[in-house]
Amino acid sequence: MKILQLISSPRGAASTSIKLSEAIVEKLQEANPDSTVKVHDLTKNGFPHLEEVHINSFFTPAENRSPELVEAVKHSDEAIAELKDADVIVIGVPMYNFSLHSSLKAWIDHICRAGQTFSYSEKGAEGLVKGKKIYLAISSGGVYTEGFMKAYDFTEPYLRSVFGFLGMTDVTVYRAEGLNVPDLKELALDKAIESIEI
Ligand SMILES: Cc1cc2nc3c(=O)[nH]c(=O)nc-3n(C[C@H](O)[C@H](O)[C@H](O)COP(=O)(O)O)c2cc1C
Repeated sequence: MKILQLISSPRGAASTSIKLSEAIVEKLQEANPDSTVKVHDLTKNGFPHLEEVHINSFFTPAENRSPELVEAVKHSDEAIAELKDADVIVIGVPMYNFSLHSSLKAWIDHICRAGQTFSYSEKGAEGLVKGKKIYLAISSGGVYTEGFMKAYDFTEPYLRSVFGFLGMTDVTVYRAEGLNVPDLKELALDKAIESIEI
């Protein structure tokens, strides 16, 4: 089993989403001793924001691409190849302003490509990335699994939607939440780790 662990917190050793991701990876390895792990830190040498040249390249058939367009599509090709190569993808998701850190959004913008990861036909859109298992390790200062703040969570609903659109519907979510709430913060990570079931 090939595990791909994606990091999108820039906080290194202080990051809760990285710690929770590592706990998930550890349990996956315990259950699958032959598995391999590739760690990709999206906050280092991050994927560029989509510029005109990237979009032009995405929509130009490979045989018609100029050298500039060939160069522009490389990030996307590499990201899609890495994704397709993995069986299981563990993604650390720190909540930033109710949504994702921009390094993760930039990666998503490079993996969503018509003809590569999804297609359109008379029947509508079809995801082309099948047979993957996704784990999300979401960390947040507040609590979003219950109460009125649930409506402010644009991490889990967005990621379930976009991965589902690409064909990846098997998504399990673990959350360390309340990291800025006095009564919750001490145990938030431990509780999230204890809840992991592989
Ligand atoms: C710039 C920034 C924006 C944040 N926005 C939110 C937010 O909208 N809601 C929330 O509950 N926590 C927010 N937080 C708190 C983080 O989600 C929390 O510290 C989390 O643990 C970060 O993940 P990490 O520890 O993996 O870096 C924010 C933190 C930072 C630094």
